[in-house]
Amino acid sequence: MNQRVKPLDTSRLDPLETASLDELRAAQLKRLQWSLKHAYDNVPHYRHSFDQAGVHPEDIKSLEELGKLPFTTKADLRDHYPFGMFATPMSEVVRVHASSGTTGQPTVVGYTQNDIDIWADVVARSIRAAGGSRNDKVHVAYGYGLFTGGLGAHYGAERLGCAVIPMSGGQTEKQVQLIRDFQPDIIMVTPSYMLNIADEMERQGIDPRELPLRTGIFGAEPWTNDMRRSLEQRLGIDALDIYGLSEVMGPGVGMESLETKDGPTIWEDHFYPEIIDPVSGEVLPDGEYGELVFTTLTKEALPVIRYRTRDLTRLLPGTARPMRRIDKITGRSDDMLIIRGVNVFPTQIEERLLKIEQLSPHYEIEVTRQGNMDMVLVRVEACSNDVARDPVACEQLGRELQHAIKTYVGISTQVDVCGVEEVMRSVGKAKRVKDLR
Ligand code: DLL
Repeated sequence: MNQRVKPLDTSRLDPLETASLDELRAAQLKRLQWSLKHAYDNVPHYRHSFDQAGVHPEDIKSLEELGKLPFTTKADLRDHYPFGMFATPMSEVVRVHASSGTTGQPTVVGYTQNDIDIWADVVARSIRAAGGSRNDKVHVAYGYGLFTGGLGAHYGAERLGCAVIPMSGGQTEKQVQLIRDFQPDIIMVTPSYMLNIADEMERQGIDPRELPLRTGIFGAEPWTNDMRRSLEQRLGIDALDIYGLSEVMGPGVGMESLETKDGPTIWEDHFYPEIIDPVSGEVLPDGEYGELVFTTLTKEALPVIRYRTRDLTRLLPGTARPMRRIDKITGRSDDMLIIRGVNVFPTQIEERLLKIEQLSPHYEIEVTRQGNMDMVLVRVEACSNDVARDPVACEQLGRELQHAIKTYVGISTQVDVCGVEEVMRSVGKAKRVKDLR
């Protein structure tokens, strides 16, 4: 056997995964100082922005002082498209990924071999936190390619020593055939695509609860605890949340633990989190909601310093590990709809509709403007075509949802309860909102 890259020792956790908070903070500070110097010395953008702020990496003598440095945004990465933010020569880069985003120009990220190894380690650690081991077969239905989901999951599962089934996204019938025939223990996929796969299983007469599938590692898009319960019940699995973003690494920046299911533990020994007030930029104490910001501590090819994720959540104390957790992400500030002055996230509507038994979790939200008024239409599929064909039932369900949204979210909506498969299906990240204003 080639001994060059060893599978992790599955019998114990990484030493830093269980280190005391004092040990962890000391390691973070050391790594932070390295990362700041690395960025300053090798990326003209950082040198310029630190100089402008009048701060030198050597001025940062504590983790708290990180707050003196300026933020980095997606616009900074775009302005230096494609490789201008890389801190290593291209000869050291062994992989690039890109995220398409909504505005057209992709954001390009790069990795050295060491970055790829660390990424594989944190994803392996994540699968292990989900109860996975080298005895498991892992079906990867995140897309392979420029998106970090597929290859990120793949290398991590291999690193843990699992048998990887690199299915990628799409070809839903084939997904089901392979799940039936290969009998994976773990599936890694977006929660919205998992729903489509579950629908296809039922269409093929397969009861998902009878399959050996034990765990779903779901992420890449916001999803609620109600969606967790719905997926767990329907599939007879544990549904766990994996968090990440390309600019910081990819999947595996944080992962929820099987024993606690209380939000992803941030692998803080590599990714230092802060929560800021998205308007003022002020750093908020743990426990308060705001925008998540990351500084990479070990990344070589593309260090990011105080990168604004736009993801809204809060930092919570560690439970399954000493490292801090994030709460479930409510949404991205870019996805927040302002409806007649009320801030609304699609996840709030998801929460309400999943509480109504005869509605399915397939939904989309359309926003239009009539005169000066914002109008919101929620289209949601009935749980079956029998229900969808009964106009009285549909109207009743529509009214029930409308009332719940008005009461809990605070906005008036129109609700259209439609037939099965009338809402657009995703094979990756779901697009929930059509804003036609
Ligand atoms: O989505 C990386 C990933 C792949 C994570 C597979 C998990 C699983 P990007 O395409 O760059 O990278 O998108 C990152 O997706 O800023 C969040 O808005 C959202 N996101 C990712 N994971 C979660 C999650 C990948 N668990 C953006 N919950 C992030 C909510 C998530 N949103």
